[in-house]
Amino acid sequence: MEKIIIVGPASQMLGVNIAKELDIETINTEFKTFPDGENYLRINIEDETIIEGKDVIIIQSTGPNFCGNQNSRLIELIMMVDSVKRMGASKITIVVPYLAYARQDKVFRPGECPFAHVILHMINSLGIDEFYTCDVHAPEILDNLTCKTINIDSMKILADYIKSLSEKDIVVVSPDKGAVERSKAFAKHFGEHIPVDYFEKTRNVKTGEIIMTGNLSLKNKDVVIADDIIATGGTMATAIRLSKESGAKKVFAVATHALMLQHAKYRILKAGADYIIGTDSIDNEVAKVSLAKTIADYLKFD
Ligand code: R5P
Repeated sequence: MEKIIIVGPASQMLGVNIAKELDIETINTEFKTFPDGENYLRINIEDETIIEGKDVIIIQSTGPNFCGNQNSRLIELIMMVDSVKRMGASKITIVVPYLAYARQDKVFRPGECPFAHVILHMINSLGIDEFYTCDVHAPEILDNLTCKTINIDSMKILADYIKSLSEKDIVVVSPDKGAVERSKAFAKHFGEHIPVDYFEKTRNVKTGEIIMTGNLSLKNKDVVIADDIIATGGTMATAIRLSKESGAKKVFAVATHALMLQHAKYRILKAGADYIIGTDSIDNEVAKVSLAKTIADYLKFD
């Protein structure tokens, strides 16, 4: 079955780069926001039969960026899926590297909605055939999907990039004890005996305020602080500051999804980061590592 890629508004570079890896055609979209705030999207074609009978792959991350927030990104995703379905696609795969709302996976305070589950129920109800995401915050939420589902791991490509900048005296530090298993898996990509340590972080669920503690042995080390998401940069900046106080020489602030909201860049650099490294799950200037080949390799063998 002939494959075709629909490049969503949020993943223009990534979508084209995946298509290049696979050597298949792309179609882009026309999108805008109406004066009343509603989203508009059409697949940019004049002949709808182009889609009929095709194996359609839609690439659309759902993080906030230059052309909208995550709600718009999700609405556009739903519009793309419904359009290609109506036009007779034989198979529909969606690639959503950053999954919006994934952090709202639990009821943290009475009265809340664990909305990550609702989002996945919504996606499931669209009747897609395959779903790909990347380093999703709480992988358990993917159990809500009944189609083939892959949570792609970006650790190796992030580690390869960091190794091209520094090879010695690396310590991997988790900004949160809960993420230490992930950091251990990440550290393996730097070598068998790379030390892993962590800070203790607690976040006030009412105010969002972070308290982080820990005094690690980081003297003259190149410290890689790895997290799944940088949002406002509060977590990362605090971990960087503590790492510097613990003697770190260089600090690499690394996240699969570097949203870089509000004053994140300022806070992280001011805290002493030497590098801020994210992937192109979010299309911004810290997207130093591309997921294109990794995603294409999955789609190739499908
Ligand atoms: C939380 O559990 C995540 O793994 C990140 O640590 C968090 O989302 C980062 O948020 P911020 O950059 O606003 O501190």
